[in-house]
Amino acid sequence: VNAIINNLASYLVIFLACLLAAWAIYNRDKKKIEEQTRDLQLLFNIARAIGSSLDLKLLIANTVKLLLPLVGGDRFALLTANDKGVYSASVNQGLASIEGLDDLIAKASANDEIVNAKNIVALPLAAKGKTVGILLLGGSREIRFSGRREKNLLSAAADQLAIAVENAAVYEKEKQAVARLTELDHLKNEFISMVSHELRTPVAAADGYVSLFLAGVTGPVSDEQKKYLTIIKDNDQRLLSLIDRLLDFSSMETGSFKIKKELISINEIVSEVEKSVAPRLAGKQARLRLELNAQKVNFMGDRDKMCAVLVDLIDNALKFSSAAAPEIRIVTANKGGLIEVSVADNGIGLAKEHLGAIFNEFYQVEATMTRKTGGVGLGLAIVKEIIAQHHGKIWAESAGKGKGTKIIIDLPSAEKVKR
Ligand SMILES: Nc1ncnc2c1ncn2[C@@H]1O[C@H](COP(=O)(O)OP(=O)(O)O)[C@@H](O)[C@H]1O
Ligand SMILES: [Mg+2]
Repeated sequence: VNAIINNLASYLVIFLACLLAAWAIYNRDKKKIEEQTRDLQLLFNIARAIGSSLDLKLLIANTVKLLLPLVGGDRFALLTANDKGVYSASVNQGLASIEGLDDLIAKASANDEIVNAKNIVALPLAAKGKTVGILLLGGSREIRFSGRREKNLLSAAADQLAIAVENAAVYEKEKQAVARLTELDHLKNEFISMVSHELRTPVAAADGYVSLFLAGVTGPVSDEQKKYLTIIKDNDQRLLSLIDRLLDFSSMETGSFKIKKELISINEIVSEVEKSVAPRLAGKQARLRLELNAQKVNFMGDRDKMCAVLVDLIDNALKFSSAAAPEIRIVTANKGGLIEVSVADNGIGLAKEHLGAIFNEFYQVEATMTRKTGGVGLGLAIVKEIIAQHHGKIWAESAGKGKGTKIIIDLPSAEKVKR
């Protein structure tokens, strides 16, 4: 019995020893794992702090908050180099002066390594093999960090910070470029608007006086005088419509281009336009055919602007025509809850690649062609904006070059009930 008990006791001792050893190993590993987890967490937080902002000051402040405890510091500065490689503080929080640190900075940037001198740690930030800055961490007392762990964490943070510092610099440059462009754009709009207004007044005055001459108010006018006065008037009108286009364009650019909203009928608008373009059509031996098939004719919109749209489309049809006697067909119809109006011509047509682009500002398929006929490529851009403000759609169709063009507009009808 004694022997058995003795045996059991020694087994028990061995067993307990094993248990203790296992416990010790477990604890050691646990500590190590906990430490590693903590470091990973810290690195994660650093990455998050770095990603938190594109603003360099904020980003550095957020990151440094996490780094300072590693060295027992409480102040910091970020030094960045100018074009000549001279460092100065982009951010400085609490470091009285960075003068007298030249040696430290030189050493850190030259060897790309962390330098610890008295109460300062200099952390070089290198991205793509180039030192983009130096982070100084400081304390009121002497800073000593010897641990491998701190060093590893600091250099891991430095790698990420370097990229962030570089990104922030790029972002800053980009931001300045955008601000400059915005200002230029604003100036351009102001310039267009100012010049247009200045031009409009004298041209409108001249146009008015020519009208007086033509009406015979200033005395009888000979046929020859009438001919020349009419030419002047036509040119004045062209100039005025160009100026109005530029004014529309500049108000479109600034977002102040707005349409009226009243209940109007598409068929009435087409008929009105037919009357106003009649003289122009006669001058070109052109024929305008109307097919007013729409039953639901009413929609919410701007009468003057919609008339201008159709006049513009007819002008284009006349301008880009090859036929001796151009033919233009305007059709209105209903398509579901939509009113569709199309303007088709038998003119020079459009190749596929231009069908969408002609609605872009200043886009002209052939600038030489319109140089003769006038126009700057703004007509359809303005038309498109007007249709967009009516919550409608506009597009061009053509069977190809020489095969005519059709511009189609869909507008939401104001009539819900089917008739
Ligand atoms: N009916 C059409 N037939 C052929 N091409 C056209 C037609 N309408 C417009 N285009 C093309 O689209 C371009 C842009 O038209 P638009 O914006 O009215 O400018 P503009 O009339 O001042 O040239 C025209 O220059 C022309 O190349
Ligand atoms: Mg045009």
